[in-house]
Amino acid sequence: MKIELKQTADYIKERLIDTPKIGLILGSGLGVLAEEIENPTTLSYEDIPNFPVSTVEGHAGQLVAGTIEGKQVIAMQGRFHFYEGYTMEEVVFPVRVMKELGVEQLVVTNAAGAVNESFSVGDLMIIKDHINNQSANPLIGPNDAALGLRFTDMSNAYSKQLRAIAHEQASILGINIQEGVYVANTGPCYETPAEVRMARKLGGDAVGMSTVPEVIAARHAGLEVLGISCLSNMGAGILPQPLNHEEVIEVTEKVRSSFLGLVKAILKEM
Ligand code: HPA
Repeated sequence: MKIELKQTADYIKERLIDTPKIGLILGSGLGVLAEEIENPTTLSYEDIPNFPVSTVEGHAGQLVAGTIEGKQVIAMQGRFHFYEGYTMEEVVFPVRVMKELGVEQLVVTNAAGAVNESFSVGDLMIIKDHINNQSANPLIGPNDAALGLRFTDMSNAYSKQLRAIAHEQASILGINIQEGVYVANTGPCYETPAEVRMARKLGGDAVGMSTVPEVIAARHAGLEVLGISCLSNMGAGILPQPLNHEEVIEVTEKVRSSFLGLVKAILKEM
């Protein structure tokens, strides 16, 4: 195992009271969930040795550990994107740190554009599977056997059990939830209408610029994964208006309460 990983995990461990069991990665506009963490220990990315620093608006850039619904969690408020210029290894570094801290399950969230025309702006979507369209993979390079296997199985990347819990809790809360395939493009530009049509033809239901690297690293490390997208806009070309980041943040903030309620209900059952 790389010395940096151990160093970073040790630094965090020294500052935590309990061992986190569930990791949370909070996407654009969804960072508010970290504010629900009780007895929080907050560590700013810039203070954590070897941690990259997040640059996107709407991302706070800190780790928050504590309890939600009685569960020991550690949340990334703000993630690292490939389009920011980080290497894939840097993008997934926090996932590997989480594993080293004792995390066993990972909940990843993001804002995404709806490709499936039967979906609506503001819908939440449980990620059933993904298509990696980033032409890069965090597992490329020498395999560190201390982290995981050379060839990682991705046939059950998004846990059936966790998806069942998510569906059940959504139904109890009266949240109309979608399920679908998330297509990760690199960004940072939004897709062209032709790229959105391509994603649909390939079997995609939503497009985004994150999540897939972290899920690959999580599966490599043997973590069980749940993914939830907040559909902040219809994919490019579906509606007559242009896309912008402000709209993405605005919509994710509007669905904040149902998103928070759902994730908390799911955590309770995990
Ligand atoms: N495309 C890619 N990423 C996104 C989108 C989109 O339409 N909306 C939010 N993140």
